[in-house]
Amino acid sequence: MVHLGPKKPPSRKGSMADVPRDLLEQISQLETLFTVDTQKLNTIVDHFIKELEKGLSKEGGSIPMIPTWVMTMPDGKEKGTYLALDMGGTNLRVCEVELLGNRDFDITQSKYHMPPEMKTGSSEQLWDYIADCLQAFLQSHHPNEAGEELSLGFTFSYPCSQTAIHNGVLQRWTKGFDIDNVEGHDVQPMLEAALKRKNVPITVTALINDTTGTMVASNYTDPETQMGVIFGTGCNAAYFDVVKNIPKLEGLVDLDPETPMAINCEWGAFDNEHVVLPRTKYDVQIDEDSPRPNQQAFEKMIAGLYLGELHRLVMLDLHEQGFIFENQNVEGLKKPYSIDASLLSQIEEDPFENLTEVEDLFMSRFNIHTTEPERKLLRRLAELIGTRSARLSAAGVAAICKKMGIEKCHVGADGSVFNKYPHFQERGAQALADIFGWNDIPPAHYPIKVQPAEDGSGVGAALIAALTLKRMKEGLPVGMKPEIIEKLSLEHK
Ligand code: BGC
Repeated sequence: MVHLGPKKPPSRKGSMADVPRDLLEQISQLETLFTVDTQKLNTIVDHFIKELEKGLSKEGGSIPMIPTWVMTMPDGKEKGTYLALDMGGTNLRVCEVELLGNRDFDITQSKYHMPPEMKTGSSEQLWDYIADCLQAFLQSHHPNEAGEELSLGFTFSYPCSQTAIHNGVLQRWTKGFDIDNVEGHDVQPMLEAALKRKNVPITVTALINDTTGTMVASNYTDPETQMGVIFGTGCNAAYFDVVKNIPKLEGLVDLDPETPMAINCEWGAFDNEHVVLPRTKYDVQIDEDSPRPNQQAFEKMIAGLYLGELHRLVMLDLHEQGFIFENQNVEGLKKPYSIDASLLSQIEEDPFENLTEVEDLFMSRFNIHTTEPERKLLRRLAELIGTRSARLSAAGVAAICKKMGIEKCHVGADGSVFNKYPHFQERGAQALADIFGWNDIPPAHYPIKVQPAEDGSGVGAALIAALTLKRMKEGLPVGMKPEIIEKLSLEHK
């Protein structure tokens, strides 16, 4: 099934005939800075494959390549009712998922707004808030039921080292979060302690990354799915490897070497050493001003959180050099992260040749009057940033496929950039075609298809909880050897 749908018209470049020479020169420089041609993409893919391998090795590398202890794909016959909790960047979502045993499901869900201050608040505040939301959900959906312990699939989409499916030590916050006393700690006991304090009868059965959930949920409805990717506020991928290909598990597990193992790549950390990615001075600035400099190098060039910020930094730089918004007050543009990716989408989607919607947008949002040539530059800049994001994202997908020798598959994708950013899907598909040389194949028949996923953090989390309980019932391992889990958990206390 191809979900790219009817081909949208290509991004309109518009005529640049009336753009004065100095701005044309700036546009051309931006094109050089932000374009990732096929040759560069291939160099990135080759390096990426090596880094994926390194992450699985005993020595390790920048990409964490975390074994998730999800060791089976669903067979579609899973049944039962499970709770799922998704701690995203802006909202908290609680779902009750009923798996119907026929590759279908029913879902009831509530969304709770997560106050932005919480991103940098205290750890107790965070866990108490989550426990309150779970309690509110149970009270409104099961008001009269007394205390039977419920199983929860907790989607916590930050890099966590896992010794077993239900736990996870947060390696570092990403996506602008900065809450003290969580990094370096196992998040499961912290949530369970808050649940206990508030008498909420819930046990964390599985701790899940959104990419793993996305892969499993998409595979449930479309068994050709072999990878899950998120292109949203952050970016990342999960795929299935095999235990014998994961040298860092040697001696730690009691598993047949052929056992499949879902890997949460945490590929946002690719090229933290800055060997291969074509970083601009704006990328460097974003990194230096972020709460976690020198981390998530790949993510900071791709993910939704950073696209608007990149656009803002380029605009300010061009203004300071005297190329745009001459004699205008640009105070409104000076606040970091005041522009999000949706503004870039709006700029790219302005249907008018003279970009009057962009003019209205800049007047109403920033009180800045733009000339038509300036707007053409702003639009080209948005296209360049959006295209770079899509092409680099495709490099990650290609690297996993090449590493695993996958020539044909479906990739379940989710996230605001994938779902909402104009042309992201087509640009990504084009980049895959460039990398694999699918010159003579029409897009509808590209062998690797990145397509909209099923709800990973709801259905995926429920499925993983179901698969875990089934393994436990059968006496199969859901983590490292018990003595190793014990030893490592003592080390983290
Ligand atoms: C996190 C990943 C997550 C991705 C997409 C990244 O910042 O580190 O765990 O999968 O964002 O949400």
